This record gives sequence, C-alpha cells and structure tokens, in this order.
Amino acid sequence: MGLGVLSDGLAPTPPMGWNSWNRFGPFVSEKVVVETADALIESGMRDAGYRYVVIDDAWHESVRNDHGDLTENRWAFPHGMRWLADEIHRRGLRFGLYTDAGTRTCQGYPASLGNEVRDAKRFAAWGVDFLKVDWCHTEGLRGRTTYPKWTEAIRATGRPMVLSISEWSRDLPWEWAGPVGHMWRTTADIADTWESVVGIVDRQVDLHPFAGPDHWNDPDMLEVGNGGMTDDEYRAHLSMWAMLAAPLMAGNDLRDMSAATRAILTAPEVIALDQDPLGRQARRVRHGDGADVWLRELADGAHAVLLLNRREVPARIAVTWADLAITGPRAVRDVWERTDLGVRADGHEATVAAHGTAVFRLTDA
Ligand code: GLA
Repeated sequence: MGLGVLSDGLAPTPPMGWNSWNRFGPFVSEKVVVETADALIESGMRDAGYRYVVIDDAWHESVRNDHGDLTENRWAFPHGMRWLADEIHRRGLRFGLYTDAGTRTCQGYPASLGNEVRDAKRFAAWGVDFLKVDWCHTEGLRGRTTYPKWTEAIRATGRPMVLSISEWSRDLPWEWAGPVGHMWRTTADIADTWESVVGIVDRQVDLHPFAGPDHWNDPDMLEVGNGGMTDDEYRAHLSMWAMLAAPLMAGNDLRDMSAATRAILTAPEVIALDQDPLGRQARRVRHGDGADVWLRELADGAHAVLLLNRREVPARIAVTWADLAITGPRAVRDVWERTDLGVRADGHEATVAAHGTAVFRLTDA
C-alpha cells in the first residue's frame, strides 16, 4: 500500500489466459469455451501459466430479463454461465466475462451503466473471477469517475475478481487506474498485423513507471497464431509483451494451433520474463535506425535485454553494457534458444530476423 495501488494480491504478476475476441469475435459459444478449456490443458498452456478463460462481447440475450438482469444467450450457451463456470473451475482454470460501462456493449448488447451493483452481483453468483469492462457507448462519462464504481461494486459482492479496464487510454488510465483495477488498456484494439504490434509497442515507451504488482499496463490481447504474421513476428510480439510485463491473453483458436504457435505461446523463459515477480516494465534505451533496444530489471538482480529489428531484412544489432548503464562482465543467455552464450566483457551482438527480436538474460559474471 502507500503507493495508492490496489494491493489485493489478485494479480501479483500479469494475468494470463485466453480471450474469445481476437479469433471468434461475436461468434463465441459454450462449445468453443469448453473445448478451449480442454485445449489449455492438453497443450500445456495451463501449466505454462494461462489460467483465465475469458468470454468477451456477445454472450448476451439482446434485452435484460423481467427482473432487470443480464442473461446469457441460451442458443450459444445452452447450459448457462453458472454451469460453464463450474466446468472451467473443475479444470483448474478461472472464469472471465465481459461487460461494458456504458449503455450498450460494442456489439450492441445491453451494458451496465446504472446497473453496476446488480450486474457485479450476478457475475459473482455465476462464479466470475475476472471481469473486463469495456468503454463503448459512454458519451459524457469519464473513465476516472466511472471505473471506481466497478471497484466498489465488485468489492461489495465479496467475491475476488480481477478488474480489467478497457477504455483504450481515453482518460489516461495510468494516471488513476492503479487503485481502481488490476490492468488497463493503453491503446485502441490490436490487429493481426506487424504494423499494429509495432504501433502499440511505440505507445508503451513512457508507461513503465506506472506498472507493478496488481496494476498493469495492458497493450491488448495476443494475436499469436491467428495467421496474419510470420512466426518471427509472433515471437517478437510475445517477446515485447513479456518485456512490457503485459497481461498475456492468448487470442487464437487453441483447439487447432500449429506446433510453432504452441511453442511460442509456452516458451518457458519468455513467460518467466513476463511473470518476473519484481513486476518492473521494460523501458526503451535505444531507438532508431530500424533497431530498438529495450531493458528490463528482474527480481534476482539480472537484466533482460531485447533487440528489435523493425526492418524487412535480417540485421546485425549490437548493444554495449554502457548503453544499458551496467558495468562489468555479464553472462549472456538466449531466452528463446534456452542456451548460455558465455561471458561478455562489455557488450553483445546478434543477428536478428526481419521483423524479429532477440532476447537475452544478463547476469553478473
Ligand atoms: C472493444 C474492445 C475489444 C473487444 C470488443 C468487443 O473494441 O476494445 O477488446 O472487447 O470491443 O466488441
């Protein structure tokens, strides 16, 4: 406490899981969700840390029921949300759901303005562990006065829930969201393109002071495996999110992914970097000439350094320890290859794939 952050211990490291939106859009169903929960286990993703199964927009009936409650669309969710939550919990996973702070969700379904307490209660009764609150149809509202109502409404249910603030950085959430929610979107929606990933990354440069345990910047959900980028680009996407201590919400079809996609999403030392308990987000220490360098401090005193090649051809990128403001020899480990490269006196260089990254862990030698 003391820093004014929400220190309830629910998100000591960035939340990890899967969200239906990027791949399924409004066509999410009970079948997809149950099969995804199974796939999380079979693929090893649950054991790699992916725990939240989040249903995004369009799970709804198009009007509230006679009691004024939100109801699930029984055609897509025949057994209802309570049953689905039990299925998810039975598998050692956690259940996430979506609503919107305004009058309608982005897909035009009923949203929660004026019904925060009622809806939070219903979500708690359903067994929700993670709530994403979106920002469509909020004319005249401000994030900084609206989201605290959710903090209170959730608290009043007595059920712990991660609060995922999705207001796309309209009201500069890093200024106020620390004591309000566990994560907040810092940009508009991601797309499955390299331009989108790099554009988002560039908007995170000044945000590192605001993140830490229980309060994370959220550069949006992952597109890894959705088909619009090369595997090198997807590796770079995950690497950057890990450096940024970003929530890792897979957004692909887990029931049908390539071995390469699975290997990217479960890369153990990259995930460990994202989940480093110090929770310090990386900062960019060099920019330009098609090559960026990012640095992250880790709990055990080690450093993670990332070389980003923005160009369309492979590039040789060099970094000196002086660039990173560290001194003395360092043992260098490649976290994707999981190999020790040996001790370097004053720097390291690597050939980095087109639209790719190289990520190293540096320890005192
Ligand atoms: C907004 C959000 C997305 C997703 C969609 C659903 O665009 O930013 O993450 O939730 O709405 O309609």
